[in-house]
Amino acid sequence: MSAFKAPTGTHDLLPPASARAEACVARFSTLARRDGFGLLNSPVFEDAEVFRRSSGESSEVVSKEMYEFEDKGGRHLALRPEGTASVVRAFVEHKPPVPWKTWYLAPIFRYERPQAGRYRQHHQLGVEVIGTEDPDVDAEVISLGHDYLDALGLSQIALGVNSLGDDVCMPGYREVLVAYLAEHENELCDEHRTRYRLNPLRVLDCKKPDCLRVREGAPRLSQYWCEPCREHFARVTEGLDAAGIVWRQDDFLVRGLDYYTRTTFEFAAESLDAAQNVLIGGGRYDKLSAMLGGPDVGGIGFGSGLERVLLACDAEGALKDVTVAPDVFVVDVTTGRLARDVGRLLRRAGIAAERAYDGRSMKAQLRLADRSGARIAAIFGSDEQRDGTVTLRVLRGDDAGKQETIALDDLEQMVREWSS
Ligand code: HAM
Repeated sequence: MSAFKAPTGTHDLLPPASARAEACVARFSTLARRDGFGLLNSPVFEDAEVFRRSSGESSEVVSKEMYEFEDKGGRHLALRPEGTASVVRAFVEHKPPVPWKTWYLAPIFRYERPQAGRYRQHHQLGVEVIGTEDPDVDAEVISLGHDYLDALGLSQIALGVNSLGDDVCMPGYREVLVAYLAEHENELCDEHRTRYRLNPLRVLDCKKPDCLRVREGAPRLSQYWCEPCREHFARVTEGLDAAGIVWRQDDFLVRGLDYYTRTTFEFAAESLDAAQNVLIGGGRYDKLSAMLGGPDVGGIGFGSGLERVLLACDAEGALKDVTVAPDVFVVDVTTGRLARDVGRLLRRAGIAAERAYDGRSMKAQLRLADRSGARIAAIFGSDEQRDGTVTLRVLRGDDAGKQETIALDDLEQMVREWSS
C-alpha cells in the first residue's frame, strides 16, 4: 500500500515531462542575462511581516492564503506567497548599486482552492528592476515578458496594460470609485458588499458575475490620471509600439496585490480558461522599498507561473519537440565494459549516451534502447568485441532499421552524422 501522496494542490514534476520546464527556465535565463539581469536566490520563507506590509491586508494572497508558522525560536514566518517582497527585502538589506536587475526561479506557496492552473505550490520565473522610475524600463521589462513567450513558440497571447496612478491621482479616483460602489452596494458579490471600502480596487479585480456587472458602469481610472502619470503611461506604450509589441489598454487591470503604482500589465493565454489564463503578471511598485524601510526608490517587475506556461504550451502544441531522449543508446552483450568505457567517451565528447545495466539480454537492452527515445543504438556483440568494431542501428525515423558495422574509432563521428 502506498501511504503517502504529494499534499493537495502540489505536484511532482517528473521526467520526461519536466524537460519542457527545463526548456522554459533555460530560455528565460538566456533572455534575462541578455537584458542584464543577474540571478537572485532568496529564502523560501521570510518574516511574515515582510509580506503583510508589502502586499497588504486587503489582498487575498496575504489575508487568506499565506502559509504562516512559528519556528522553534518563536519567530513568526511565512512561506513566500509571491516573489517581489522578498527581492525588495534583499535590496533593502544589501543596498546594492541601482538600478538593481535580478531574475529568479522561486517556489511560491498560496493556500488556494486547487484547480487546473491554480496550485498551493507553484513556481514563478520573474524579474525585478529596483532603483528607477524611468518608463523606458517598464517597456523593457514588458518586452522581456513578450520575448519569453515568443521564444517558447506561444502566439495566442493578449497583453493588457494599465496605470494605477500615483499618490497624487489615485486617492481622487478611489473616492469617486467608493462613491460609485456605495450606490451599487447591494448589487456587489457577498464578499465585496461588506469589504469594498477597505480597498475598492479589489472589486474591479473580482471575477464574480455580480461585481463584473457593477464594474461595467464604474468610473474609469484613466480619466483620473494626473499629468505625470499620463506622460509616464504614454512613454511606456510608445516603447511597446517601438518594439512592435501589440497591447491593449485595460482600465480594470488592477492586479491582486496592494503594492502597485502606475504601470500594471498581464499577458493572458487565449488558449486557456479565462479564470486561470494569466501567464505573466507584473507592474511598478514605487513605494515598496520605502515601505520596507529602504530608500524611496521605484521598481518594476513581473512573475510568470511556470505550470501555467506549460499548460498554455500544451494547448498550443508548443515545445512539442523538447525531449530527454539520449542521442545514442549503447547496447553491450559482452561484459558491459564496452558500454561503460565507450559510453563515457561519448559523453565526454558531448554526446548524450545511455546504456543498460545488470547484464541484460540483447532483446531486453534493445527494448530499453527503444523506450529511451534514442535515435541510434551502438551495439557490441562478441563479433564487434573481437574485431574492434561497433554496429550502428537507426531505431526511429524514416530510415529506421538502417544498420552498419564500422570501426570503433569512427563511432563518434558516425553518431554525429547519423544524429543530424
Ligand atoms: P501574481 O499575479 O500573483 O503576481 O502571480 C504571477 C503569476 O504567477 C500569475 O500570473 C500566474 O501565472 C502565476 N500564479 C499565481 N498564482 C498561482 C497559482 N496558485 N498556481 C499557479 N500559478 C500561479 C505576483 O506574484 C507578483 N509578485 C508579480 C510581480 C513581480 N509584480 C511585480 N514584480
